[in-house]
Amino acid sequence: MTDTATCPYEDGRIVVDFDQHSPDYQANMAERSHELRGKCPVTWSEYHGGYWVVTALDEVSAMYKRPDLFSAVKDTVDPEGMFRGIQIPDTQPQVTAGFLEMDPPVQLDFRRVLNPYLSPAAMEKWEPLIRDFTHACIDDVIESGRFDFVDDLVNIVPAILTMAMLGLPLSSWEVYCEPTHAMVYTPPDSPDLPRVQQMGLNMVMDLMGAVAAARDNPRPGIIKALLDAEVNGEPLDDAGIIGTVFLVIGGGFDTTTAFTSSVWRWLAEHPDQKARLLADHALLDSATEEFLRYFSPSQGDARTVTQDCEVAGYKFSKGDRVLLSFAMPNRDPKYFPEPDTVQLDRFPNRHAAFGLGNHRCIGSNIARMQFKTIMWEALQRIPDYAIDYDGTERYATIGVINGNKHMPTVFEPGARRGPGLAETMILWQARLDDEAETEAAAAAGS
Ligand code: HEM
Repeated sequence: MTDTATCPYEDGRIVVDFDQHSPDYQANMAERSHELRGKCPVTWSEYHGGYWVVTALDEVSAMYKRPDLFSAVKDTVDPEGMFRGIQIPDTQPQVTAGFLEMDPPVQLDFRRVLNPYLSPAAMEKWEPLIRDFTHACIDDVIESGRFDFVDDLVNIVPAILTMAMLGLPLSSWEVYCEPTHAMVYTPPDSPDLPRVQQMGLNMVMDLMGAVAAARDNPRPGIIKALLDAEVNGEPLDDAGIIGTVFLVIGGGFDTTTAFTSSVWRWLAEHPDQKARLLADHALLDSATEEFLRYFSPSQGDARTVTQDCEVAGYKFSKGDRVLLSFAMPNRDPKYFPEPDTVQLDRFPNRHAAFGLGNHRCIGSNIARMQFKTIMWEALQRIPDYAIDYDGTERYATIGVINGNKHMPTVFEPGARRGPGLAETMILWQARLDDEAETEAAAAAGS
């Protein structure tokens, strides 16, 4: 732990001018993280009603490992109540992020249901799907010499994969894709909010219909597992199932899109490193961890202090809100020498990009596999490209997700290699339908 004697902490708090949603943090993330940690690993921000900001890896780890003291729970029954979940500010008091805003033991029940579908073994089945759809998206644009890396590729593939894992029709990806991203990047005062909310409503309606249909005719996948599951000793109701599915969708789409597009841009800006990676596939594993550390797609989440306590030498009061950063500890020089440079072969690299403790990302296997497959295949097809910065747009705030809305890319036109998106969708849907029929027949016969 940091020597608290060197921290002027005696009067209770060191107030910093910090808001993770500010343009300043987006533009100067590394500087701010060193500045805050330099003052003290635990500082106090007066924004959004006041909250602690924790920026060093030792302290963040210690706190994420005490869910009894730092609760993720969100109380939707009493929006004025103490438990305000994982976002600061809590802009949607009536909505929870499923079991991400629950504490053990119930949260762990949900994880037990999902684990078999997100394990490394389960992932192997999906690698060909990710590869086929990556090529299909590229085949649709390769002759034109131009595409939007976000809109035409990395919005699409994670969305289709998530439909497949859930057991939903692959073509539904369009119902879920735009609202899922837009809900993250649309600020509460945006004139576009009503449209985004309407799309969100369409998504809820579609999912309610899909869950009802799955009750009569279940298909293999996460929705069927949730229909069969018991949580806290009881079967899940529709709200529990829908909340969990939205968490998988929210967790699965936006983070992966944000991560992959950030790396695509970085590689365009570092052609020597791109060439190094392209020449050595074995480097992809350590490079993936380094990119996760450096970009930290999910920047940090909040917790609520459940009782007066002292953790890692810092005192907290019941009801305090605490932002436990992932991105800022990922720049902690105690663990990452030269933290603001990307070192593709960095080792060790025990970063916090997938979180720490009981809520650590349950989708980390799929996230890594998806990133590596899409990035490698895209680089094989389009090794030389340039970002068109005029059309590139980052999320207005990186306080939740460090993401990109659009990333137009130009390259030398190439030749198609196979079917495009529409045809690939038909082929894969038929294959998954066959598998479902075989499984249903086996279950009926057993
Ligand atoms: C690069 C991609 C990803 C990153 C950086 C990421 C990051 C994270 C982080 C930091 C957490 C912990 C949040 C907290 O403690 O407050 C988390 C939780 C979670 N993630 Fe991911 N994630 C990624 C991809 C995925 C994918 C692909 C899925 C699903 C298929 C997924 C599903 C989830 C779920 C369900 C949780 C909640 C776990 C729990 O509450 O126990 N994530 N993720």
